[in-house]
Amino acid sequence: MNDELLIDLHKGNARQGPGGDEQTKLALNLAGLSNASQPLQAADIGCGTGHSTLVLAEQLNATITAVDLFSDFLDVLTADAEKRGLADKITTLACSMNDLPLKEGSLDVIWTEGAIYNMGFEKGITYFKRFLKPGGILAASEITWLTQIRPREITNHWKAEYPEIATAAQKIQIFEEQEFMLKGYFPLPQSCWIENYYIPLENSFDTFLAKHDSGEAQAIIDAKKTEIALYKAYRDYYSYGFYITQKI
Ligand SMILES: C[S@@+](CC[C@H](N)C(=O)[O-])C[C@H]1O[C@@H](n2cnc3c(N)ncnc32)[C@H](O)[C@@H]1O
Repeated sequence: MNDELLIDLHKGNARQGPGGDEQTKLALNLAGLSNASQPLQAADIGCGTGHSTLVLAEQLNATITAVDLFSDFLDVLTADAEKRGLADKITTLACSMNDLPLKEGSLDVIWTEGAIYNMGFEKGITYFKRFLKPGGILAASEITWLTQIRPREITNHWKAEYPEIATAAQKIQIFEEQEFMLKGYFPLPQSCWIENYYIPLENSFDTFLAKHDSGEAQAIIDAKKTEIALYKAYRDYYSYGFYITQKI
């Protein structure tokens, strides 16, 4: 896939994946981070244009390193943070989550919404753990089966796309095996997919295709339309689960 086209399709929208400010706040409450007397050291990994980063900056006594592979997304976050008077709490870092130039054992909080899949769920947990202080929080949203019994079409689709998709019980077991304690879990509601992500994305399709008149651009939109149709048909069977955990 052409990164520049994908960036252009997504950077004008508030979110680059399913999620919501209310859900970020709920996860923060479950993490129990709101009354820190000293500024917390936090990182939001795979933050995109940083909707979750801005919520963290508003809600927490913290300095936040906002990490994404693409500086175009981080530029949007920088501009929004300035507009909202939050710039002094956020530093952006354009790099891969696979190779973070952060100090081991330095972070109180690692936040990652809809992004850990880029390096793989279990590998990501194992890698991120080293950057947390003992007792640090790892909060991650990740594609999750909502049921054990499912239509074969959707099971086969996701197993081909992302073999690590699993039920919440299986995901929680992986956190526990990696010496994290579960502080809370909830699945994202359908509004996080439809209203917050897919509708704004669909609204940008025509402008995107007018700007990029190519087969590659059309293929990206066709793939997104298939993804959206699949979600609408099978939304009772999968969502993102939000896992709030603590390093033991
Ligand atoms: C599905 S989006 C989620 C973005 C944002 N957290 C949200 O919820 O709107 C995944 C994000 O991961 C970023 N990403 C992909 N691969 C990455 C990598 N190797 N390192 C850091 N970020 C990466 C993408 O640029 C994108 O912003």
